[in-house]
Amino acid sequence: NQISEGQVSWESPSNIALVKYWGKKKHQIPENPSISFTLNHCKTTTVLSYAKNEDPSAFNFEVYLDGEHKPDFQPKIKTFFERVEIYLPFLKQFQFKIETSNSFPHSSGIASSASGMSALALCLMSLEKELQPEMTTAFFNKKASFLSRLGSGSACRSVEGDIIVWGENTTVEASSDLFGVKYPHAVHDNFKNYQDTILLVDKGEKQVSSTVGHNLMHGHPFATQRFAQAHDNLANLKPILASGNLDDFISLIESEALTLHAMMMTSMPYFILMKPNTLEVINKIWAFRKDTGLHIGFTLDAGANVHVLYPKAEANAILDFIKNELASHCQNGQYICDEIGFGAKAL
Ligand code: PMV
Repeated sequence: NQISEGQVSWESPSNIALVKYWGKKKHQIPENPSISFTLNHCKTTTVLSYAKNEDPSAFNFEVYLDGEHKPDFQPKIKTFFERVEIYLPFLKQFQFKIETSNSFPHSSGIASSASGMSALALCLMSLEKELQPEMTTAFFNKKASFLSRLGSGSACRSVEGDIIVWGENTTVEASSDLFGVKYPHAVHDNFKNYQDTILLVDKGEKQVSSTVGHNLMHGHPFATQRFAQAHDNLANLKPILASGNLDDFISLIESEALTLHAMMMTSMPYFILMKPNTLEVINKIWAFRKDTGLHIGFTLDAGANVHVLYPKAEANAILDFIKNELASHCQNGQYICDEIGFGAKAL
């Protein structure tokens, strides 16, 4: 326990849920299981510098985004430190400088909480490993995912790749409410290098924070059915992932996306998080799919942006379509080409 100062650094990706997490209990325990593709290019890089804290009675840290001091990030990180301190009892012994940057543009409407919180959790784990060098990689990853969850629920699915399950369920026996696990069953080659092109339809501030959104599932009239449906959809996804049936895959993920938005439209208070361009894009995707027979589908997060999912083998034609027909519905014509990835990396 003699380490006094140093620096650790991680890059950690974002992820996109196929079966959505929406609704949580206390301590960031999900109401239903979720499964996601880890992304490859949308990521956060975090450098954590540490030195002895002269006053170990309080947390001592500063946050920088792209080199700029960000006092407004302080409360969120402080809440995170308070939650994880019992699992990382050394936190107050250090003074931290947290320097972070994202690969995707600022305020692009892409949530940086999954990549950002997992990158920070991984840095803290690297520090713990310096104090406990005998720690195994399996334990390291599991605890990193556990800590990430306490920062932002979906962040626990970003530590590893390429398909991660979070939330106890019977389809994946080793699953847990406390951390993400790798999807253990067969996955058809159709999903290898699966593409996710993120259309930046609306780059504005999120209308509803995910904390508020999750809470709206308490007492929601359709909550019980929705949570049961998520279990069913995860079970239904298993034969789809094994067989590579892309038509069934698309039906399942599009239904999940629309259900997520339906939950927000039917809560009290209610929200519409899609924009007119979200619907334009969805209708164009459906028409193009009908015309060409290509396997283009979409999913949505809790916002207006559209994730266009498709197999690598069909990328040429689908990218042409995105460029020629969908980009005009994006703010400043912006979209980000990403694909399935394999998790965080130590730098
Ligand atoms: O991790 P949070 O609390 O920001 O919640 C994210 C929830 C969704 O992105 C809408 C769905 C999901 O499973 O990622």
